[in-house]
Amino acid sequence: MKIRTIEVLCLLWALATCCAPASAAERERLSLDQGWLFHLGDVPTFPIRDHGSSYYNGKADGAWGAAAADFDDSGWRRLDLPHDWAVEGPFDAKENPSQGYRHRGIGWYRRYLQLPNSDRGRHIELQFDAVATNSTVWINGIVVNRNWSGYNGRNLDVTPYLRYGDDINTIAVRVDADAMEGWWYEGAGIYRHTWLVKRDAVHIATDGLHADPVRSGKGWTLPVAVTLESSAATAHPVSVDVSLIDPAGVEVSHGSVRATVQPLATSDASLHLELRAPRLWTLSDPNLYRVRAVLREGGRPLDRTEVQTGFRTIRFDPDKGLFLNGASTKIQGVCIHQDHAGVGVAVPESIWEFRLRRLKEMGVNAIRFAHNAPAAEVLAMTDRLGLLVLDENRHFNPSPDYLQQLTWMVRRDRNHPSVMIWSIFNEEPLQGTEVGYEMARRMVSAVKVLDATRPVTAAMHAGLFTPVNAAQALDVVGLNYQSWAYDRYHKEHPTRPMTSTEDTSAYMSRGEFRNDPAAHVMDSYDDQPSSWGTTHREGWRAIAARPFIAGSFLWSGIDYRGEPTPYEWPSASSFFGAIDLAGFPKAAFYIHQAHWVKDRPVVKILPHWNWPGREGQPVKVMVASNAPRVRLLLNGQVVAEGDVDPIDMASFNVPYTAGVLEAVALRGGVELARDKVETSGPPARLVLTPDRRALANDGLDAVPVTVSAVDAQGRPVPLANALVRFDVEGEGSLIGVGNGDPNSHEADKASERSLYNGLAQLIVQSRRGGTGALSLRASAAGLQEAHAELTLQAAPAVASAPSAEPTTYMLVWRISPPQATRADPKVVVAGNDMNSWGWGEPPMRQEPEAQAYRLYRSEVNVRADANDGHALLTFRKVAGSAEVWVDGAKLGDKQNPEPGPLSVPLPRGATHRQVTLMVQSTPGQPSGILDRVLVEHSGR
Ligand code: GAL
Repeated sequence: MKIRTIEVLCLLWALATCCAPASAAERERLSLDQGWLFHLGDVPTFPIRDHGSSYYNGKADGAWGAAAADFDDSGWRRLDLPHDWAVEGPFDAKENPSQGYRHRGIGWYRRYLQLPNSDRGRHIELQFDAVATNSTVWINGIVVNRNWSGYNGRNLDVTPYLRYGDDINTIAVRVDADAMEGWWYEGAGIYRHTWLVKRDAVHIATDGLHADPVRSGKGWTLPVAVTLESSAATAHPVSVDVSLIDPAGVEVSHGSVRATVQPLATSDASLHLELRAPRLWTLSDPNLYRVRAVLREGGRPLDRTEVQTGFRTIRFDPDKGLFLNGASTKIQGVCIHQDHAGVGVAVPESIWEFRLRRLKEMGVNAIRFAHNAPAAEVLAMTDRLGLLVLDENRHFNPSPDYLQQLTWMVRRDRNHPSVMIWSIFNEEPLQGTEVGYEMARRMVSAVKVLDATRPVTAAMHAGLFTPVNAAQALDVVGLNYQSWAYDRYHKEHPTRPMTSTEDTSAYMSRGEFRNDPAAHVMDSYDDQPSSWGTTHREGWRAIAARPFIAGSFLWSGIDYRGEPTPYEWPSASSFFGAIDLAGFPKAAFYIHQAHWVKDRPVVKILPHWNWPGREGQPVKVMVASNAPRVRLLLNGQVVAEGDVDPIDMASFNVPYTAGVLEAVALRGGVELARDKVETSGPPARLVLTPDRRALANDGLDAVPVTVSAVDAQGRPVPLANALVRFDVEGEGSLIGVGNGDPNSHEADKASERSLYNGLAQLIVQSRRGGTGALSLRASAAGLQEAHAELTLQAAPAVASAPSAEPTTYMLVWRISPPQATRADPKVVVAGNDMNSWGWGEPPMRQEPEAQAYRLYRSEVNVRADANDGHALLTFRKVAGSAEVWVDGAKLGDKQNPEPGPLSVPLPRGATHRQVTLMVQSTPGQPSGILDRVLVEHSGR
């Protein structure tokens, strides 16, 4: 429920109660990633055929099977998130090529959580950053969420369902990854982070701080809107203090606003801050400011949150393309999916940073996350690294479920200066129809409600020229391929800004300079366009020549699993990337680097120089350079020289002789830079090259390490393909391996990998809290082994909620009416009688009465790890004398009627048992089950 925007009152900062100390009960954001239990495959439940089960089935906490709180998950695999189970499995020709020939299927996750009594009354949210693909979440057997997409996060208010103190909460998640949303590898499982966020009952809503600067006149305005939310039972008058903090940490503007938050309602508090001359967010100097909001009641801080923001303007001009901060900026963009070698879609943040830095090195200034929103941490990186983002929604559909996914994305991402434009779809068959237009119009409008500053586009691959089409609802028309339509569309719609949202789609195998269709090998001379795309050079030529096309998003920046076009089995991942799946540059990387990098010389010889048997024959030598001229020297002798076409680059035929081939980049006869390739001998030793030498000891930091082979003289061996074994010892572990070969079926989760054209990658991750070092050893038959050592550096660990041990509580009980004579513990209650016995959950206290007998009955699933004859069935406190019966047999009694515990050994037996407690009250005394009943495992 939304209520009015409240009175806005700007106060002098000095008068605000800004300096009150943070209270201990302020927000906690705890990682829930550790200590999950996982089961691959579905968990069947029994068919419901009886009345009793049917009756219970639809009840709030009536989940069956693995969703139930007391399900027996002993024997499930223990793991930490993020997790992608698809990448753990083998390749299988019977599986879907689009998904990389990996089995996806169904999986279950469970986790136990204990919350202190002091959390009672706070607002508690369970957050899943993304789960592939369809998933359902239960808390303590109560279904709390269903989400039919693998690309959006969920912030679930679980406050009402939780239990505190000694009680253990159960989180169960069923993941259906047979459901597909894409035609690329999507992974399977809880592959992004999970969080538990505890806040005061009156708090700032998740993604509830919106602060996106707007240029106004000579200065800047920062409109700030804070969404407040309350799970309290009464209205609360509050104030919100907002400060703007510059990159040096100095507060440069502030304001305050008052609001009243009604119970179980949200309320928006807004104000404006002004800043005359901020340091701008630019691609080369991405200055980030912080906006902090502190919520107070009577001066006491209740909650606080912070977002980063940047001061920059974005404008798409129909004739001149994109202007960033008023400067014409051609988009040098790439489309990328989200999987990486070794780890599938469960990509550690530091590996994302490695990928983005590599793209930046290529000259990329913009990323289109295809075809879905990326992880939140990735956008923090694009902000920091100075990369623009086209943020794309997965599903073209304005119906409520799907619209919620779109608005989730906009709410989460609208503060990021890197996000320059939203995209509502990719290549939708309805795009050229009236239906498509009407759908697009509604989605664009939903975006505008949340963000009035950014334009909206969509990636259209047809339908642009029909009478009514989706483009008419967009701010910027996005074209996928269709370079033939650039001029026509611009001519017919001269007022509509345009950009390529996708282009190129050319094939290339890293390090290969020959074509071998039988072996599914594509050369790297950029002469292998797809039938719908272009070569890299032609794609850029068409865009570079047209100022009205804002820029390029080439398909694709990085290879990805699945879509092994133009081949199928055994090829299992894409050939489109300018960078391979492990992050190693292909020839297209250097071609675009020459196109895009302006601030330093680029020169790169594309083929290797190992062509035994080709002596005297011409070898095609392509040189990628941003210099106007290039000279080639072979063994010190000039063998060719020529101009470099800024799009086509320079190509020569050089008769092959073993030795050193050098390319010298020249301007006006002056050398700017040079590159060389050298004929190598056979591999003699391995080399390990970590991307970094130090690892943060937070248990998350991961470093890619390149393994390569050199000959006896230390020269790289470009075609080496040795199988390399890795040994990792010390304070971390090997989390995956890869080599960028789209045809490889070697395992990602392994301690060995073959080099592919001279290179492979292993990824190591630190141990949480580890001290010292991580030692790596690479060995291969006949080669001298390589060693490397990474040092662990102390870093604050992400605060985590520890996982509790599974505990079987018996919560749902039936209670017989009292009777004056001894009750029969074996009495059968008819399955269709829901009412003659009552219902309750411990504590179940009966007020003093004349002596009476009562039966308490429940059912329990005994976990396999407790079904060993050593577990105890424990009633923590029973008032009255009592007998315990299990499945019709008496197991023990308590003769003293004083309140006290009753514990009986639970014999080995059936999983599912019926427990009956017969209680005899003492006249005038209370009686009953006064505390929890549980099955206590031996040794716990
Ligand atoms: C496009 C599509 C991309 C990818 C690409 C391959 O049509 O949007 O997701 O499939 O083709 O060329």
